[in-house]
Amino acid sequence: EKGGHDYFMLKEIEEQPEALANTLRGHFSDGVVLDEQRLSEQDLRDIGKVFVVACGTAYHAGLLAKYAIEHWCRIPVEVELASEFRYRDPVLGRDTLVVAISQSGETADTLEAVRHARTQHARVLAISNTNGSQIPRESDAVLYTHAGPEIGVAATKTFLAQIAANYLVGLALAQARGTKYPEELEREFEELAAMPEAVRSALSTVEQTRELAERFSEAKAVLFLGRHVGYPVALEGALKLKELAYMHAEGFAAGELKHGPIALIEDGLPVVVNMPSNKGNSQLHAKLVSNIREIQARGAHTIVIAEEGDDVVRPFADEIIEVPAVPTLLQPLVSAVPLQVLAAEVARNRGYDVDKPRNLAKSVTVE
Ligand code: F6R
Repeated sequence: EKGGHDYFMLKEIEEQPEALANTLRGHFSDGVVLDEQRLSEQDLRDIGKVFVVACGTAYHAGLLAKYAIEHWCRIPVEVELASEFRYRDPVLGRDTLVVAISQSGETADTLEAVRHARTQHARVLAISNTNGSQIPRESDAVLYTHAGPEIGVAATKTFLAQIAANYLVGLALAQARGTKYPEELEREFEELAAMPEAVRSALSTVEQTRELAERFSEAKAVLFLGRHVGYPVALEGALKLKELAYMHAEGFAAGELKHGPIALIEDGLPVVVNMPSNKGNSQLHAKLVSNIREIQARGAHTIVIAEEGDDVVRPFADEIIEVPAVPTLLQPLVSAVPLQVLAAEVARNRGYDVDKPRNLAKSVTVE
């Protein structure tokens, strides 16, 4: 049942190409197709502001929506933890779209955020992996991630599927608002549709990551750095390590190093760095290379996740894990893979139950 693995999470990590393919399937034909749609074209056209609300890993997926939606649709996007959103007084109205992301569709804080948004007449679009769950039932439109059931408490394949779903929502808005030509939408979708294959090839890093995990299982703490779309991936890498291996882990925007976190760097501290593509964004790439040099000079042991063939960063990396080269916005789909494996394997080496981390529940229906 675990597909020959010691724990479900590894099986689910390996199912990510199918989870992505199934999520994309049927959701694009001459434009984006939602599973449930109770909003008119006009409602969508009138959207002037987007809030994305979610918790935990779904929030990290949500952070990525901002990069895509603002870039494609020129609509301001705010991404907020559902537990914060619901207790303040966000400015909402008929021209606001609230995108609620929840694998279970039952998370209490996300559900309450949806309910609050509706009292303010905002439009609500749910992204969920669970057919007929409460959040989709209370939303105006639904896009299901068809990742299949996830047994491991830690979200893996649903995270990748949520990222793809966010990008579909971005394309749907771009389509409704006419900020992209149909050919452009199709091209973006084709790039997405190539991702199951890219993730499949990213899975070839599993063995190397397992070996690496053996060497770092006793570390006191691990830091994760990234910029742009690599930043939410850093947050997710740290969350996975905390929840599974019970280790102190922090994700930072690499540009923030000098504003505090660099004081944490000490001899032998493992720091995982998500490199952007050297071709896609050479300026960001150069910034990260200089961040790596700064932390290496202070004794950090750098574990660098880089695009295949990135020879520029190689001399500055103590360890390098190569993932396939893909378009910038899609990079989290491949770079998250080694981080998931790292967390699971460190947890296993430390003797913990990878599928059932202590104190955590798969569905958080209390606040
Ligand atoms: C982490 C994890 C949690 C969930 C969070 C939201 O691995 O699984 O952080 O992402 O509890 O859950 P859903 O998506 O069901 O609302």
